[in-house]
Amino acid sequence: MVIFDGDKKVFKLDTDNTSYVLGITDEGYLGNIYYGKKISSTDVMYAMRTNEAPFTPAKLPGGKVDFMDRFPSEYPFSGTGDFRNTCISIRDSAGQEGLELLYKSHNIYAEKRKLDGMPSARGEGSMSLDIVMSDEAVGAEVVLTYTVYEECDVITRSVAVKNVSEKAFYITKALSACLNLETDISDILSLHGSWARERHIQRSKINYGSYVTESLRGEPGHQDHPFIAVLSEDCNENHGSIYAMNLVYSGNFTASVQKDQFGRVRTSIGINPDRFSWKLEGGEEFQVPEVIMQYSYTGTGGMTRNFHDFFRSHLLPPKWVEAERPVLINNWEATYFDFDDDKLVQIAEEASKLGIEMLVMDDGWFGHRNADNSSLGDWYVNEEKIKGGLKNLVDRVNSLGMKFGIWFEPEMISPDSELYKNHPEWALSFADREAGLCRTQYMLDFSRHEVVDYIYGKLHEILSSANIEYVKWDMNRPIAEAASLSLPADRQGEVLHRHVLALYEMQERLVNDFPDILLENCSGGGARFDAGMLYYSPQIWCSDNADPIERLMVQEGTHLIYPLSTTGTHVADCPNHINGRVTPFNTRADVALTGTFGYELDVTKISGEERSQIPAQIEKYKKYRKLIQTGDYYRLASFRENGRHDSYMVVSKDKKHAVIIYVQVVTDSNVISKKLKLCGLDSEKIYIIEGKEYAGNVLMNVGYIMKPLKGDFQSAVIEANSLDD
Ligand code: GLA
Repeated sequence: MVIFDGDKKVFKLDTDNTSYVLGITDEGYLGNIYYGKKISSTDVMYAMRTNEAPFTPAKLPGGKVDFMDRFPSEYPFSGTGDFRNTCISIRDSAGQEGLELLYKSHNIYAEKRKLDGMPSARGEGSMSLDIVMSDEAVGAEVVLTYTVYEECDVITRSVAVKNVSEKAFYITKALSACLNLETDISDILSLHGSWARERHIQRSKINYGSYVTESLRGEPGHQDHPFIAVLSEDCNENHGSIYAMNLVYSGNFTASVQKDQFGRVRTSIGINPDRFSWKLEGGEEFQVPEVIMQYSYTGTGGMTRNFHDFFRSHLLPPKWVEAERPVLINNWEATYFDFDDDKLVQIAEEASKLGIEMLVMDDGWFGHRNADNSSLGDWYVNEEKIKGGLKNLVDRVNSLGMKFGIWFEPEMISPDSELYKNHPEWALSFADREAGLCRTQYMLDFSRHEVVDYIYGKLHEILSSANIEYVKWDMNRPIAEAASLSLPADRQGEVLHRHVLALYEMQERLVNDFPDILLENCSGGGARFDAGMLYYSPQIWCSDNADPIERLMVQEGTHLIYPLSTTGTHVADCPNHINGRVTPFNTRADVALTGTFGYELDVTKISGEERSQIPAQIEKYKKYRKLIQTGDYYRLASFRENGRHDSYMVVSKDKKHAVIIYVQVVTDSNVISKKLKLCGLDSEKIYIIEGKEYAGNVLMNVGYIMKPLKGDFQSAVIEANSLDD
């Protein structure tokens, strides 16, 4: 529900449990008055304190700059007195950088408009508000768009910057949103990591000054994540306040938390202004990415479940939300580059007998690629390896009753490739400096349309040439030299954002041209696991590290925001190829249950004993697949926090079924069994766990007794089903 109270000049955006309130001052400044538990009145303008000096520029013009630096500006602008972190900066044709945005008009309407050229949440059943702010001197209009998703307690925000003058200007910063908070928050929650250990949760204190998490890599990266939350000190899994922002964008971002001189907190998120500028000609418009914002007073768990519901109902490709994903086997850890058609068919033969449903041919099938140093860009099949061609291989795999999937890395070009020989100018590079290699490859210049069309054409040819039902789209290096040989000097700052827009355009074309292909994104594991990519692909490879113990932390951080069904989770080879850890086959499978289950090993080489466990593992996955894909997720214990064990559960929406996963990482001697307080059950229902009856309220308050398992790295999967099922 969106209300505008014209007398008080107050906007109130209500979800089922929250209110977000904005006010317009007499001068026309737009301020953030309140965000929190739902309130019933719009009579809150007093909280903006426009009656307190120096909050009255109309009455105290001599104090205008002081006012600017105190005002809780809804979309703060730079260069005119707000010395805190701002959201927008524009350099005009005279080279001046300063803006003063004043309210001009607004519009409230049902549903929402699709963002131009960018992923954004769908608007069924929602209500939107556009507020037009303008700076007449610069000739800029800024449209702040809000969409309210009542049942998920989510508000999405985006911004369009318009040049309404005759002269070009340069946008040097345009973030997606900011929040001015004056409440009991004291902590920051953000996600950090590295290759093979992405998205570990970090909680830190808010101090005076700024905290920034950001990427300059041309993608979100393994190291940081386009998400920021601020929370109350007492906020835990089940209670306490948390304000969160998650950016729907797959390039450079910045997210910051700033505590100002008055102890108030401003959090903001958007495209990183570093290495960004955008020339906007008169009459043109620039679309800023969307941010998904929410307030929850039911702890981090409440926030998580709101995000999961929101992604499932409004952002993931609808066709795949509830569709069963095939159990796949990927040949990367099985063979790396050393394979041919016969080897793949051998794997498929064995896999099909065990119940695996799809073979994915990973890197190394094209050009003359036998190591990671050649052929990217040469998207034609290497017939020395795949004898008889791709269709022949796919037909052989299909004849075993298995689907076939394929790997691409479309944004890249190897110096050792036909494509580079013919088009060296298609690699991103400075005019006068040799570009830096990473994994012996360059980035393609996606700001050139002919490059995007050429590469897409090659993908299209391959995908049309055989019965391919899955694509793994990879991206294995960051973008260093963000410079295009085809753009003029004053547009070089656009290269990184243009890359992201071209990536979106290509994925849009792919999912439209091949609507039945299941697309899985990937970037050296999980360096581009974000809401933007999830708009096109319902699942993303979570991390190159499938060691189940490392995965507990990677998956805990990923599932803090994203639904379980979005995470690529595989049973990998052992000892683990990255950290050498030896873990039971069973534990690897139990940890892979909460995602899109698959195998990343050579089924023809593992022991007979392990091989014989696969059919039962697949049966277990299939048994819980629907529940895991559609249910509510609760964390029961965190190995990251306690250093000993991890546990989480998923409860069906009707609360009749639940599955609990428990991993004992470290075994302890002479200890008593653990009490796990289950969550999310119906307190009135009676549940059966391992043949014994318990009341829901007993399981949630007294707890379930989990007996110690024998040894390190052990796991158990337990189900609870209500008697009235
Ligand atoms: C990345 C992916 C891996 C694999 C390799 C192939 O690292 O994350 O799964 O596809 O590329 O080069």
